[in-house]
Amino acid sequence: MGLDSKFIKNDFPILKREIRSGIPLVYLDSTATAQKPQQVIDAMDNYYQFHNANIHRGVHTLAEEATGMYENARKKIADFIHAKSEKEIIYTRNTTESINLVAYSWGRKNLKEGDLIILTEMEHHSNLVPWQILASEKNLILDFIPVTEDGLLDLVVYKELLQKKPAIVAFTHMSNVLGTINPVKEMIDWAHQAGAIALIDGAQSVPHFSVNVQDLNADFYVFSAHKMCGPTGIGILYGKEKLLDSMPPFLGGGDMIKKVQLRSFKPNDLPHKFEAGTPAIAEAIGTGAAVDYLLSIGMDKIALHEHELADYAFKKLALVENLKIFGKNNHRGGVISFELGIIHPHDVAQILDHQGIAVRAGHHCAMPLHEKFGIPATTRASFYLYNSFEDIDQLVAGLLVANDMFG
Ligand SMILES: Cc1ncc(COP(=O)(O)O)c(C=O)c1O
Repeated sequence: MGLDSKFIKNDFPILKREIRSGIPLVYLDSTATAQKPQQVIDAMDNYYQFHNANIHRGVHTLAEEATGMYENARKKIADFIHAKSEKEIIYTRNTTESINLVAYSWGRKNLKEGDLIILTEMEHHSNLVPWQILASEKNLILDFIPVTEDGLLDLVVYKELLQKKPAIVAFTHMSNVLGTINPVKEMIDWAHQAGAIALIDGAQSVPHFSVNVQDLNADFYVFSAHKMCGPTGIGILYGKEKLLDSMPPFLGGGDMIKKVQLRSFKPNDLPHKFEAGTPAIAEAIGTGAAVDYLLSIGMDKIALHEHELADYAFKKLALVENLKIFGKNNHRGGVISFELGIIHPHDVAQILDHQGIAVRAGHHCAMPLHEKFGIPATTRASFYLYNSFEDIDQLVAGLLVANDMFG
């Protein structure tokens, strides 16, 4: 049985909204951020109304309740991605901060002049810039797996690059522009055979299909709650316990210490070693509720639904004149980036917005990928569990209007 997106839509108050006095909202921008179900909003509201207190440091009832809720969410997240232990789940602010944490802590400790980092041409800026900063500081070498014309990673070149013995490879599980799902299990295995560790950017995978970090054998795996029906302001760094244990702290301050003297400190145990200061407590609890929500629907059902939506969209978009999709391949999720003739993507997005349809236009934080395809920007439509086939019909109708307007 597939998903009943009409039934699911009911869980999301914002999807009942109307745009521009009376036009129903069609939300096709979940790759940027997903909408939040009532269950997540209620979980955060419940914390603020009945349990609000700072965690870990108090002995009063509210502090114990808040700590329990915060740590219980960590356990849910660990189980969700099949981590061995909740010690391997570090709360950060987002995917971006998780990658910066690894570059800053693991990178500064372990990399030396001339070491090689392998990335790909399809990375989000958050998996490029932290490594660029580190590379310029420590004289490291960056090299890139090219993207083919049909939006896949060139694995022949990857294997050649691995012969140069990189220290770390870091790549996305699913592209936020092309929708391509990379063969990460094999890619991690090859990296390990070459003596490298592997960081996987799971910002677009964890929300959309089941991820098992132990089966993948990922060393680090990072994602953001706001893209998986959870709140903004919180992300996850998964790391193998041994690796995280060997790394120095990232930020210093309260909670990340066991003992402090005037001139020295002893870091706390995992996972607290990497969580300095008062964390995003309500957001952690909201993330736990998002995990419960996604599991109540079923990750396999969500993945299948998005696959069907993408297949349907490909068929329907083929009928729109002058429309060119980037990254046409069969290894994909529900993200479609395209050009519409000579109409600027911002104009396309604006015309669609006038019809209640929310899509994204721009470089989607992947400037090098757009440069590779010789274009400054694309329009992107992305699908999630609450989208329906009718939403895609609306998108297509909206694009026909755009074509008409520009003759
Ligand atoms: C593949 C990918 N990586 C990283 C990010 C950055 O996520 P955040 O802004 O939540 O840190 C995004 C956001 O769109 C993304 O799609």
